[in-house]
Parts: sequence; structure tokens; C-alpha cells
Amino acid sequence: MSRIRLGVNIDHVATIRNARGESYPEPLRAAEVAIAAGADGITAHLREDRRHISDADIDELSALCLRRGKPLNLEMAVTEEMLAIALDHRPHAACLVPERREELTTEGGLDVAGGHNRIAPAVRALREAGTRVSLFIEADPAQTAAAAEAGAQVVELHTGAYCEAVREADAERAVRELERLKAGAAQAAGLGLEVHAGHGIDYATVTAVAAIPGIAELNIGHFLIGEAIFIGLEAAIRRMRALMDAATRPARATA
Ligand code: PXP
Repeated sequence: MSRIRLGVNIDHVATIRNARGESYPEPLRAAEVAIAAGADGITAHLREDRRHISDADIDELSALCLRRGKPLNLEMAVTEEMLAIALDHRPHAACLVPERREELTTEGGLDVAGGHNRIAPAVRALREAGTRVSLFIEADPAQTAAAAEAGAQVVELHTGAYCEAVREADAERAVRELERLKAGAAQAAGLGLEVHAGHGIDYATVTAVAAIPGIAELNIGHFLIGEAIFIGLEAAIRRMRALMDAATRPARATA
């Protein structure tokens, strides 16, 4: 199994900053710490309502990632406004996500099957600008097939339901959700898509997700920023990285 990349999502550093309308803590500084701690890339979601990451943050993060040779993964809704911003910045990667103003976080995956006529042109425009396009979807066979049809190079499988089942100690549901993710990863890889995963991942759930065959990248945010309160961001990222590496290390043969 090759080394899985870790994208660190720094949105919630901005959530804390914005809660007081202050200029700190700075997402840019968090991105610098994340890179120093071994993050393979920085992920940020510019939401329509700008509740956390701002346009200025994206400017700064783009410049930092360029300087440091690290990929910026811009999470964005499929809107005219976001598409224009992405085409202006031309980030390394864009992850298209569903967005509803009233949600607390990204709930569920993108309906690629039902939104082909809206999503496929956005995928095409981003790809033509040199951005690698990922679609954030539920591990659902129809959505995965639609993602390939829409021309995406990557799918990011929504791990929220699995992580929630583990946190709620619902073992049966956790097994079911993990199997769904495994089947989704196998289907996507079979269609030639690169497979990423994310949402709700913590120390308790990262091992099983990282061990899913075919997963190339995990994007993790909220838990790491919360954990940073107690042990610091660098230590939290290093621990997550160590758990990912342990999950993908080949088992030693027993004599
Ligand atoms: N991947 C995608 C597409 C997301 O929308 C999010 C949440 O912004 C994440 C990963 C990270 O999720 P979390 O903050 O729960 O780790």
C-alpha cells in the first residue's frame, strides 16, 4: 500500500477567528504549521456565506502553497461565483461540494447523478484551467458512476456516516458504513478515479478509513483543530499521520 496523503483542512481556525471578529488565529499560520508537521496539502472551503474562510484567506493560502510547493485543495459549491474565483486562482485541486446555508457543515454528498448538466460544465472549465477536480459524494454506486461520467478525476467519499456510527458506538451501523465505503472505493478505482475520503475523521476512525484499499488521500479538519487546543496543531497532525502510516503498513509475516 502506498503512503496516503493527508490534506489538513484549516477552516475552523477561521471559525474561531470570526467568532470574535478578530484577526487571529490566522488560517495562514495554521497552514504553515500544518506543512511543517508533514501535511501533504492544505484544504480550505470558501463558503458562499463566508462563515469561516474569507476571500483574503484564499489569496494568502494560494500564495503560501505556491511558495511551499504544496497543493491547495479548494472546496467549493458549484455556483457561478465560486467557479469564477476558482478559475481566477487556479488551485491545484478543487473539490465540489453541496452547500446549504442553514447547514452546520457539509451534510451528505453532491448529487452528481441529478445535477449532471450543472456539474459537468464546471468540471470541464476547472480541468481546462489545469485544476484537478474532485467530487464529494456519498459512496453510492449511482453517484460514483455519475462522477466518472461528469469527467472528474477524483471522488472524495463522505465518511461522515461511518464516523458518526463509531462515535455513537453503533457497531452494526459502523460495519455497514465501512463496507459501503470499501465498495465505493473499489468501484471508483475500477472506473479509473482517484479515491479520497473525508469528513468527521478522528483518531478513532482514521485507521479503518486509511486501511480501505484504493484510498489515496484523506482530508481532515475539525477534529485536528479541536485537538490542537489540548496538544497543539503540530502534535495533533503528527499523531494523525502516524495512525495513517500504521494503518497502511504491511502486516509482518508471522513465522
Ligand atoms: N472533505 C470535505 C469535502 C469537506 O467538506 C470537509 C468539511 O469541510 C472535510 C473533508 C473535513 O471534514 P472535517 O472537518 O469533519 O474533518
